[in-house]
Amino acid sequence: MNANVIAIANQKGGVGKSTTVYNLGAGLAMEGKKVLLLDVDPQGDLTKMLGLRKPHELPLTLANAMSDVIEGNIPSNHPEIMHHPEHFDFVAGSRGLSAVEVGLVNVMSRETILKQYIDSVKRNYDYILLDCRPSLGMLVINALSASDHVLIPVQAEYLAAENMTELVGTVQNIRRQINPGLNICGVFLTMVNETKFRKDVVTTVKTEFGRRLPILNTVIPATIRLAEISAAGKSIFLHEPRGRAAEAYRNLTKEVLEIGDKQRSKSANLSR
Ligand SMILES: Nc1ncnc2c1ncn2[C@@H]1O[C@H](COP(=O)(O)OP(=O)(O)OP(=O)(O)O)[C@@H](O)[C@H]1O
Ligand SMILES: [Mg+2]
Repeated sequence: MNANVIAIANQKGGVGKSTTVYNLGAGLAMEGKKVLLLDVDPQGDLTKMLGLRKPHELPLTLANAMSDVIEGNIPSNHPEIMHHPEHFDFVAGSRGLSAVEVGLVNVMSRETILKQYIDSVKRNYDYILLDCRPSLGMLVINALSASDHVLIPVQAEYLAAENMTELVGTVQNIRRQINPGLNICGVFLTMVNETKFRKDVVTTVKTEFGRRLPILNTVIPATIRLAEISAAGKSIFLHEPRGRAAEAYRNLTKEVLEIGDKQRSKSANLSR
């Protein structure tokens, strides 16, 4: 096994990155995949969603794991990895990650600290999903440097905005300078309102942006059901399994699985 590493990134806040990491992680686990979620955000939102309400009081988080790597100790056992009842593993994020991010400035190979950590756990998983903070700072650069793919949740009206260019530019820079294997595997629309939720929304977006960006077919509706999952302490697949949101995240899971299969057959061809 050698995990597909996927960063869920967008420097715009509140677009559904953490919600996607949780539900996509749960969806992949339901398909029998071995999944690890990393909370790479000092806010610890994903950690809270996963039921640990006080991430800043946890003794072991990704901040400790990254600090160990900075000190040259790549751990062989991984006490920071926790197991979730929905059959995936995760590493919590906490405020300590802010200190790690600031400290990275003075560290050798500062862009690849997270990659070194991920390399030490990669063989145990099919998919590793990284929940990025809303910025393009050092932690996000670390996430992108460690990833095979970037998955970008975006609101339709934001696709044309300047910030999208900035994100794509950052990905291109990282590909050129640090991680040639990085690719944007998909941009998908989130928080799409009922009124706009027409079949042709993806077609329109594909016509307009499809040449520049790989637009996925999945559209995540704006629904209170998704806003409820944090308080409910369960993924959408347990919270409202037959609803539109669960169906949308099931579709996203399928699209991501297809991307993973494609990558595996590509690397099998290369090693032949
Ligand atoms: N499709 C959706 N419909 C309605 N509400 C949603 C949807 N997806 C997420 N939310 C809610 O919107 C808020 C932001 O979502 P989330 O935390 O996943 O975004 P984020 O991109 O991770 O934010 P940040 O940039 O702060 O990390 C949360 O309260 C979440 O419950
Ligand atoms: Mg988040």
